[in-house]
Amino acid sequence: MVKKTSKNKMWGGRFSSEPSKLLQNVNSSIDFDYKLFDDDVEASIAHAQMLANCKIISKKDSVSIIAGLKRIRIQFNKGKFSLDKELEDIHMNIESKLHKDIGEPAKRLHTGRSRNDQVATDLRLYVRKKNSEIIGQISSLQMTLAEKAEENYKTLMPGFTHMQTAQPITMGHHLLAYVEMLSRDKGRIIDCTKRLNENPLGSGAISGTSFPINRKMTTKALGFNNPMRNSLDAVSSRDFVLETMSSIAICSVHLSRFAEEIVLWLSDGFNFIELPDDLTTGSSIMPQKKNPDLAELVRGKSGRLIGSLITMLVVIKGLPLAYSKDLQEDKEPTFDALDNIIMCLQAMTAMVQSMKPNIKNMSEAASNQFSTATDLADWLVQELDMPFRSAHKVTGEIVKHCITENMTLDKIDIDNLKKFDKRINEDIYNVLSAEKSVNRKKSEGGTSPRNVKKAANDWIKRLKNE
Ligand code: ARG
Repeated sequence: MVKKTSKNKMWGGRFSSEPSKLLQNVNSSIDFDYKLFDDDVEASIAHAQMLANCKIISKKDSVSIIAGLKRIRIQFNKGKFSLDKELEDIHMNIESKLHKDIGEPAKRLHTGRSRNDQVATDLRLYVRKKNSEIIGQISSLQMTLAEKAEENYKTLMPGFTHMQTAQPITMGHHLLAYVEMLSRDKGRIIDCTKRLNENPLGSGAISGTSFPINRKMTTKALGFNNPMRNSLDAVSSRDFVLETMSSIAICSVHLSRFAEEIVLWLSDGFNFIELPDDLTTGSSIMPQKKNPDLAELVRGKSGRLIGSLITMLVVIKGLPLAYSKDLQEDKEPTFDALDNIIMCLQAMTAMVQSMKPNIKNMSEAASNQFSTATDLADWLVQELDMPFRSAHKVTGEIVKHCITENMTLDKIDIDNLKKFDKRINEDIYNVLSAEKSVNRKKSEGGTSPRNVKKAANDWIKRLKNE
């Protein structure tokens, strides 16, 4: 007598009872992997086409499968495809729906494939797509920064080290520093996207398949560069996720540093910039407040983006080859990181676009705290042929004198200056203002307005041609 079997269409044959509610709750991934819908359909269409071309299924079945999948895609996009938790994940939801819609031929779609190579394929397609969105967003932010830098190629501001006023710089120069960082961030994403663009499909559950499939065909159809060479590697590797997550984490750390500066620049003590009302928030109790929540959230989100990378590293670290269900835990952190970095890039772009520098405050701050003391020392070297160490010492004594006398460097008169070295002459005043200081920083990569204008224009040109 044949024993009762489970209703589960995918593996019911071997089971005599339904999965418990508990198992279903832990095991089901449909609540998040529905995001792979488009990629799963695309990969299934490529697979069905290949199966027919290789005469593994009939042309007729393949046509009906592909038409069915396309109909399901339309329904899904209209919100008319209800996902069932009992069917565990997106792969089984789609296959089961296809079976409902077209009957018998649907049961042939899974020939020569497994959910293991299926999910690895879907995720690569998904990450590839999102990475290209991230690359585009990074470029927009770079362009916005370069344009703002061009506008402010000679806007003075203090440059800091140890968060103490160091030397005068231009705002354009500061903004362009982030354009450079973002360019490396973009390079990392481009680089790992090239590496992830390989096809796991056709690796089956672990060992390949006994069907005479043609992996080059699905590779071409899905825009991959080549079939992955080892089936075990293909179904179990997620280093493409790790690479993407680490590139995202690094990028988010760069954005977080910049967000922190925006918070500082907006604070009372600095008052360097203004942001429009529509990008700031009020307080529920303090009527006067205008808070930089957007920048703070970009800073805060770097925490969860770093977290996503750590989650993935830890999930993968102890896994023996090949597939283990732990790998299902790759999706939520990956999806979350991809969505959030895009949001952060958009937020930063909006803030840069609309930020207005308070030019007066910035240039006053650029002159404070003896910010041109290095220029004074450099003058002593250049004009009096003093060794730099001696010039540093003499300048330090001059600064000390100014502190005691409560005056700025440019206010000390020539007679007093001569007390420190009798060769000092009136020419020295030519290097003591913040403006003169930046103008003299003409070395390659330096902050002189001429350099900055050229660098900003070069970036704008380069980004336009990308
Ligand atoms: N939902 C699963 C995942 O995300 C699909 C693969 C399931 N494979 C398996 N052998 N149970 O990883």
